[in-house]
Amino acid sequence: GIVSAVRKKISIPLFVKFRTGWKDDPEYAADLSKRFEDAGADALTFHPRVAPDRRSRPPKWEYIGQVKDRVSIPVFGNGNIFDEEDCRMMLKKTNCDGIAIGRIAIARPWIFSMWTEGFSPDQNIFKDVALQMSLLLEKYYNPERAVKRFKKFAIYFAANFRFGHSIYSKLCKGETMPEIRDNIQAVFQTVPEVVERPNMNLFTN
Ligand SMILES: Cc1cc2nc3c(=O)[nH]c(=O)nc-3n(C[C@H](O)[C@H](O)[C@H](O)COP(=O)(O)O)c2cc1C
Repeated sequence: GIVSAVRKKISIPLFVKFRTGWKDDPEYAADLSKRFEDAGADALTFHPRVAPDRRSRPPKWEYIGQVKDRVSIPVFGNGNIFDEEDCRMMLKKTNCDGIAIGRIAIARPWIFSMWTEGFSPDQNIFKDVALQMSLLLEKYYNPERAVKRFKKFAIYFAANFRFGHSIYSKLCKGETMPEIRDNIQAVFQTVPEVVERPNMNLFTN
């Protein structure tokens, strides 16, 4: 299998990320997790969703507990973690060893310092992060790709706001980074209303 082939070639820790599969049956994932462990994986990240769900239906956290019970390597739970309370709930309900975060880390990249070091952002954080993102993308990608990437980021970023769809389309006007930065300035001329939990219409991409 893929995992044992990779295991033979590398000496760094090997994490395997996987989903429930095609069928909504936790037994398959639990069995798979044991096979990953036997093949030499050091840790697992499990997202309890079936492929046809994409991200529209909530993940079944109870399946994470079933995977956790089957193996002795660390299991990271994943799916719909948006705040510290979600983390505590997932840890408690599934007994998992850690948590892997997807969309909220794109929407609010400061959550790591917020949740672990007590960082407390002020209301400029959204504008600052959008501008910083545009600068970093410009630095590391060619102009066309940088703008494309920004527009992908903007979907998740816009989920922070009550009128996220409108903010998303305002941010994405134009095809160059200077235009994008003008958009950011315009959008944050006034402070848009922030929602506690992300706008799920935008998060279901
Ligand atoms: C922009 C984006 C790219 C992703 N790319 C991958 C990927 O390459 N491989 C993968 O296993 N999951 C990928 N995912 C899925 C996430 O790892 C995660 O399983 C999913 O978003 C659920 O976690 P969340 O609810 O915290 O977002 C991606 C998610 C997003 C939003």
